[in-house]
Amino acid sequence: MTDSALYQRRRAQLMQQMGRGIAVIPTAEEVERNGDTHYAYRHDSSFYYLTGFTEPEAVLVLIAGDAPQSLLFCREKNLEREIWDGFRHGPDAAREQFGFDAAHPIAQLDEKLVELMSNQPTLYCPLGADTNWDARLLKLRGAVQAKVRSGVRAPDELRDVRGVLHEMRLIKDDHELAVMRRAAAISCAAHRRAMQFARPGQFEYAVEAELLHEFVRQGARHQAYPAIVAGGANACVLHYVSNDQKLRDGDLLLIDAGCEVDGYAADITRTFPVNGRFSPAQRDVYEVVLAAQSAAIAATRPGNTWDAPHAAAVRVLAQGMLDLKLLSGSLDGVLESESYKRFYMHRTGHWLGMDVHDVGDYKVDNHWRHLHPGMTLTIEPGCYIRPAADIPEALWNIGIRIEDDVAVTETGCEVLTADAPKTVAEIEILMQR
Ligand code: GLY
Ligand code: MN
Ligand code: MN
Repeated sequence: MTDSALYQRRRAQLMQQMGRGIAVIPTAEEVERNGDTHYAYRHDSSFYYLTGFTEPEAVLVLIAGDAPQSLLFCREKNLEREIWDGFRHGPDAAREQFGFDAAHPIAQLDEKLVELMSNQPTLYCPLGADTNWDARLLKLRGAVQAKVRSGVRAPDELRDVRGVLHEMRLIKDDHELAVMRRAAAISCAAHRRAMQFARPGQFEYAVEAELLHEFVRQGARHQAYPAIVAGGANACVLHYVSNDQKLRDGDLLLIDAGCEVDGYAADITRTFPVNGRFSPAQRDVYEVVLAAQSAAIAATRPGNTWDAPHAAAVRVLAQGMLDLKLLSGSLDGVLESESYKRFYMHRTGHWLGMDVHDVGDYKVDNHWRHLHPGMTLTIEPGCYIRPAADIPEALWNIGIRIEDDVAVTETGCEVLTADAPKTVAEIEILMQR
């Protein structure tokens, strides 16, 4: 999207917070998959957040101070390359369309940076994100230093620009929320499609194909992360991505899949019976996870800390594990000893945004941070039961996770992914159709 005013505003805000100094923010590199073939190109999230520019080989330079300036370095127009690889803006059109003060060919970056860094007190960059870039910038800073006899000073201070930038990205603006609602809506449609398609004898990858079909059909060309399509015991492998087994009658199917739209992710998990009907044991565990998720969503509101939804989910899960005879003892004892972690070993969510595990600190001054309107996160409790002598056999290999995406509002939260069926009744009705 090329509403340049939006990106100009973000750049101005960042420069204001920088005070005085220069920031150098490159986009992502292209990565080769094998001879002459590349992985689908994905821009760097922070670069895109500040520019809206999606071409590779581009660098944003911000000069903060009394006369703030934003400059883009990008690929030049090149008819020959455009015949083979397609359109590129070139500096002139990019400056015009994306609202930069100036734009230059990427080949001039090093030479111009030596000029631009001169007499700046602070150099901001994504420090440590790419050690080649760190080394390149330090070398250029050295070149500035070498000009000391002409009265030029090199930046004394090197700072990680991501501190300020990630705090900005943590709070989503209206434009971002609108894009995330669209990513969520397409991903919900894909989950519904998968539920209607799945049946005993199908392969996990065939279900994955249905998800991809719905994403791409609706214009979401990329997954936000590799889909997990895990039948039966595979659901107890948290990062299962082989997706190559046959679905069996009587098993559950866990699908964790979401698409990316305009650089923003959705991240949804649903778990449902392959044959369309929950067994009594599956239903018992499912209702516990669903109740835990409801409790976590209810705890997602301004004023509560980041940890409140997790604590709420863990409490319900732990009581459920006691009721299901997965654990013994008292609720307080289970919470204290954390014995629930045998069946629930991950946390209840993460920030969500341009990155599926989005940026932003979870603690401030060593305390869980408070939730604020505009923060977006996942709520994803689960329960994973591996076979063991001390576990009732009816519960073996049940792996369940229910994951929604939510945006914190003034009074609570908006569930962005409510259109993916979640109750036992909703799922069974959709699957009978
Ligand atoms: N799909 C990644 C996650 O749920 O965190
Ligand atoms: Mn997630
Ligand atoms: Mn997920």
